[in-house]
Amino acid sequence: MKRTLGVCYYPEHWPESQWAEDAARMAALGLTWVRIGEFAWARMEPTPGTLDWAWLDRAIETLGAAGLKVVLGTPTATPPRWILAKHPDMIAVDRDGKPRGFGSRRHYCFSHRPYRQECARIVGLMAERYGKNPHVAAWQTDNEYACHDTVLSYSVAAQQAFRDWLAQRYQSPEALNRAWGNVFWSMDYASFDEINLPNLTVTEANPAHVMAHRRFASDEVASFNRLQTQIIRRHTDAPIAHNYMGQITDFDHFAVGADLDIASWDAYPLGFLSDRLPATAEHKRRFVRQGDPDFQAFHHDLYRAVGRGRWWIMEQQPGPVNWAPWNPDPLPGMARLWAWEAFAHGAEAVCYFRWRQAPFAQEQMHAGLLRPDSVAAPAFEEAALVARELADMPNVEPARADVALVFDYASAWAWETQPQGRDFSYFRLVFEAYKALRRLGLNIDILPPDTADLSGYKLVLAPGVATLSAAFIGALGSFTGTALLGPRTNAKTEEFATPVPLPPNLPGLNATVARVESLPPDVPVPLTERGNFLHWREKVETTAEVLETTQDGWPALIKSGGIHYLTGWPDDAAWAQLLIGLSNAQGIDTDTLPEGLRRRDTPTHRFFFNYNSVAVDWGDATIPAAGVYWAKH
Ligand code: GAL
Repeated sequence: MKRTLGVCYYPEHWPESQWAEDAARMAALGLTWVRIGEFAWARMEPTPGTLDWAWLDRAIETLGAAGLKVVLGTPTATPPRWILAKHPDMIAVDRDGKPRGFGSRRHYCFSHRPYRQECARIVGLMAERYGKNPHVAAWQTDNEYACHDTVLSYSVAAQQAFRDWLAQRYQSPEALNRAWGNVFWSMDYASFDEINLPNLTVTEANPAHVMAHRRFASDEVASFNRLQTQIIRRHTDAPIAHNYMGQITDFDHFAVGADLDIASWDAYPLGFLSDRLPATAEHKRRFVRQGDPDFQAFHHDLYRAVGRGRWWIMEQQPGPVNWAPWNPDPLPGMARLWAWEAFAHGAEAVCYFRWRQAPFAQEQMHAGLLRPDSVAAPAFEEAALVARELADMPNVEPARADVALVFDYASAWAWETQPQGRDFSYFRLVFEAYKALRRLGLNIDILPPDTADLSGYKLVLAPGVATLSAAFIGALGSFTGTALLGPRTNAKTEEFATPVPLPPNLPGLNATVARVESLPPDVPVPLTERGNFLHWREKVETTAEVLETTQDGWPALIKSGGIHYLTGWPDDAAWAQLLIGLSNAQGIDTDTLPEGLRRRDTPTHRFFFNYNSVAVDWGDATIPAAGVYWAKH
């Protein structure tokens, strides 16, 4: 497949007299796609029921006439002020019970049924009008579900919807009481109407209650999205996407993705490094203008799985952003490197955010491909270079990896609900495993937790999956490669109880987790061969083969057949030791790469991405600072 570039554009921000020139410049730059519309509700419907499509008709026509394909976004992330006046209770409420006000975006609660009807109405009108428009070649629902911490809402609407959801799931209050263990502190309910959302409790709420709420809130995002996709599909065959984010686990992206044709995500490597990535100060300094060398790739692989193979970058950072604690300028070359890395991981399209920097409102400090005065900003030339390179490049095809890593959103909720040690972050555990694999030069596929067939993989990792699905346990039973599970894998039931017999309950592995301990980060537990466990470890009683132990004598890695169980959280050195051993035993070649250099194989090419600010020599190649190198196999 030929890979393509695009850009995010807001015609409503600019005088109409500028549109044609903008469109011509986009086309001349070599862009294929232009995403528009996602925040423009107040211009589409300035007052209740007064619709103004004329400007949008002309914008789409102008862009289309220049040869661009339009991605049309539904505007439901920014309901106009008058909708709020009509439905004052549609606003989300935070966990302290405070309503979240108007004046930015995402000011709605997913559970508010009348707001859903407003969404269905505007999406229906848009889809009717533009579903057959020849220039509208793809759709985007809403914008970044979960952004600004908006999934969990403690509104009256959410409470009502939660009670309905509980009644459906448990059928009777007695069944719910049993499932949650409400006998514990006399927490039994006599009716579903007595059950509140799990905020404002005196001390921690029952974790089963919290987990039910997390599952419910995730389902609400999925059904909110489904309402839109069902309407859009009545009017068009164009693919539908949503733009997800980085390191956001508040809803099950696989569940939302099931209703979409394409997964896409918004990649802001420098913002993420500064704002959210758990890393040392030294690491953040080293990669301050490049981004973490694995963070983008991890999400590329994750969203390739969420999109069942089809995925895009819907927004790519082009220069400094405005929203992180610090907002550095990317090194020259990064706007090109990030795009190529996405293509090498199978992105169909990469769209830069945004065309022109806005001189007004919240994001006036956020760079675009153009400055506010329309002069090209540095990323403009880099995008032009990528466009020329793509034109010369034969098709870039995705590769099937030997190694797979499971990612499970419900486990993120589980370990947030009951971390047991402050540092037990599910995302971090999985991301560290991913980084360790990437440092060895490996391609990785990410798998959803209900994967039922592991054939074709040689090595499969599923650290920290709180409850293994029946499908996955079945797949393990017939898997002929190496599976590495643990720590904390299969440690809870679906209802968030401790299973008896005790975990891990893996097919063919005789092992019992008899004790767990969490530790402060400066108390490592040394392993016999190399590295340490950090944060967490388990004492297993087992008759299985013990491959590695801690220096104080607890089994660290055990195995029976292909099933391996890891009893702690490895540091980087321990991961490297373990993964080199397990990979090589499966005939997977590893290549320990220099810091900041990463590689990705496609069926035809080997790509190198140098996240360092200095050139790196590797094999026959010199990869420039912030540079990309590729060669045919
Ligand atoms: C994204 C969002 C865009 C814009 C951008 C700025 O999270 O989808 O609308 O706000 O961030 O970096």
